[in-house]
Amino acid sequence: MSILYNESKKTITLHTAKTTYQLKIGNLNYVNHLYYGATIHDEDLSYLIRRYDRGFSGNPYDSLKERTFSLDAQPQEFTTQQQGDFRINSIEVQNADGSFSFDGRYVSHKIYSGAFTLNGLPTAFANEKDTVDTLEVVLEDAVTKVQVTLLYSVFEEADIIMRAVRVRNGGEGTIALKRIMSLNMDYMNGGNLDMLSLPGRYGQERQVERQPLTHHVHKIRSGRGISSHQQNPFVALVDKKANEDYGACYGFALMYSGSFLTEVELDQYDQVRLVMGINDRLFSFHVAPGEEFDTPAVLMTYTHKGLTGMSHIYHDFFRNNLNRSKFVREVQRPILINTWEAAFFNFDDVKLVEIAKAAKGMGVEMIVMDDGWFGKRDDDNSGLGDWFVNEKKIKCGLTELVRQINDLGMKFGIWFEPEMVSEDSDLFRTHPDWVMEIPGRHAVRSRNQLVLDVSRKEVQDHLIASVNRILDSANIYYVKWDLNRAITDLWSNSLPAECQGEVSHRYVLGLYRVMEGIIKAHPDIMFEGCAGGGGRFDPAMLTFFVQYWSSDNTKPLDNLKLHYGSSFLYPVCTMGAHVSEASPMVPLETKAAIAMCGTFGYELDATKLKKKEVKACSKMSSLYHKFYDLNFFGDYYRLTSPFEPVNLVAWESVSKDKSEALVTVVTVNLTMNGPQEYIYCKGLAPDKLYKVDDGSNKVIASGMALMHAGIPIPREVPEFTAFLYHLKAVK
Ligand code: GLA
Repeated sequence: MSILYNESKKTITLHTAKTTYQLKIGNLNYVNHLYYGATIHDEDLSYLIRRYDRGFSGNPYDSLKERTFSLDAQPQEFTTQQQGDFRINSIEVQNADGSFSFDGRYVSHKIYSGAFTLNGLPTAFANEKDTVDTLEVVLEDAVTKVQVTLLYSVFEEADIIMRAVRVRNGGEGTIALKRIMSLNMDYMNGGNLDMLSLPGRYGQERQVERQPLTHHVHKIRSGRGISSHQQNPFVALVDKKANEDYGACYGFALMYSGSFLTEVELDQYDQVRLVMGINDRLFSFHVAPGEEFDTPAVLMTYTHKGLTGMSHIYHDFFRNNLNRSKFVREVQRPILINTWEAAFFNFDDVKLVEIAKAAKGMGVEMIVMDDGWFGKRDDDNSGLGDWFVNEKKIKCGLTELVRQINDLGMKFGIWFEPEMVSEDSDLFRTHPDWVMEIPGRHAVRSRNQLVLDVSRKEVQDHLIASVNRILDSANIYYVKWDLNRAITDLWSNSLPAECQGEVSHRYVLGLYRVMEGIIKAHPDIMFEGCAGGGGRFDPAMLTFFVQYWSSDNTKPLDNLKLHYGSSFLYPVCTMGAHVSEASPMVPLETKAAIAMCGTFGYELDATKLKKKEVKACSKMSSLYHKFYDLNFFGDYYRLTSPFEPVNLVAWESVSKDKSEALVTVVTVNLTMNGPQEYIYCKGLAPDKLYKVDDGSNKVIASGMALMHAGIPIPREVPEFTAFLYHLKAVK
């Protein structure tokens, strides 16, 4: 059992393989947080809490005038509301009598084996060989009978603790949750922490920012109804001295695809509090007597092995514990060609077959028919919502088209954007009330489209039926599920006025239900997520999608940054990356080497390629297969940062048994007559000898030499040259 309750000390200690987390049922039955960090055996760590008379910090009434006991200076597992703690809150509830207060005290706990699940929300699961135990701690407000259950699933070998919160209204009147966070994390001594996050924008998702915590509340949030291009639902608190290779790092990844909020406060005493969960803006959720409300889960980790150590924990966990699709591991994902940048809306069945034929010579195994195949869709003004084949374009019908593609020995994939509707569509004409629109106002348009009210059950059922009908009508191997705008106009015609603050969250719950009804119902189809690129690339989505389209930006040099940033949390096997015609000055081979730092594919008109280019693509496609296991399942190392003024951008994948590695180096700038530059490998077995093969030269060197003395990178080459060094242990 990885969770231990010490009855006499009233401590509960959670152990993963390399970390310990401790909480204690403390004074007045408040639950204190004592520790999270490197392994400490089972001792009571409550000596860490010192109590002082802190001016202007209130004392709970039953502390009996004990001026040194204030919740404002106590590390807690979850906060109260209006009990003298003035830091950021993990709960704000309006009770049935109109008051805003919550005073949660410990009433019980239970420990059981296995991971918790949540109502309507995705969670990570335990595999057969994983040791996973769960702790539930129940806090209750004695006056309102509102209960908050803190959930902790300890994934022992993975070094992950999954957390969430369940609210139960045990009172007699309906309450309104104005804020309910998935996790509260207190640090008694947090003045030494930096915050690392992944901000971005459309076309430039998941860049990296690291900043010191200063004395205010730092907010990372999305209010766009989707997890967003602008911020990813991930944050790490890292020791100021931590770098890629060593130092304390705490990671927090929220499994939620809607508007989210992370707040980090460095307070007056250098205590740090982090809360993370659903964004409380435009949020107010009613919970009737006897009802429960579940928050999304957070995947939390700690390591003292620096940023690389933290990324490895997440990469392994995302590969093992989020998605049961056979395309995660058992079945190799095919190399695809997508029609979007090749043809946009201008294609028909003949053109598709031509592209497929030409792409075959490039080593492509699947063609994906992107936007434009349905309804009356010739541009982005019409057709969304009408999920039936446009027979003017696909004249032979979908079943026949797929048959022709299959006859070429290729697989077939298709694009959908289920949550959206065009005003010029049969669906909108039939059900104008199915869109999100505030009464008396016109809905905001974005990319000329409106948002379907996916919080409504009849809309969900309609989407499940109409997408499934297409999927079941032909031999479809792959689906790209897109979303091309943010969510505005929060209003649902199916909810009463007082419940409109629930729409944003109900939309996300509805979406998960639709995805369950389509994706989980088609285990033999491979699903890729997309939201105008990576606008909803988050851990919850990865429970449905094996990969996610990283960005609409296919410029290879921008992708160096995008992959680097994404890699802090996401493994290579989840990041969609294609070779396209963007940036003609970059050679095809380099584009392909960069796309191999993701799920490799093409996004160009194959019929227009020259013979020489087809040959180059075919070579790169076979390299993708050759290095598939290394790239998809190896340990990934960031060797240099494209955010720094480097001449070489480099990364590496090392097989788990360290017998093989692939080092990729891209020259982004080479000054004339400059110094010789070296790339230093990581993660190799120091005593093993490796044969280093860059396609033309072969060297044998030890892991030690390759890590400490490095690999010299040839400098008399054109800019934007890529080198792939394949390292194979010979002894
Ligand atoms: C989004 C996607 C693109 C493409 C277009 C189609 O922008 O990110 O890859 O599918 O939609 O409209």
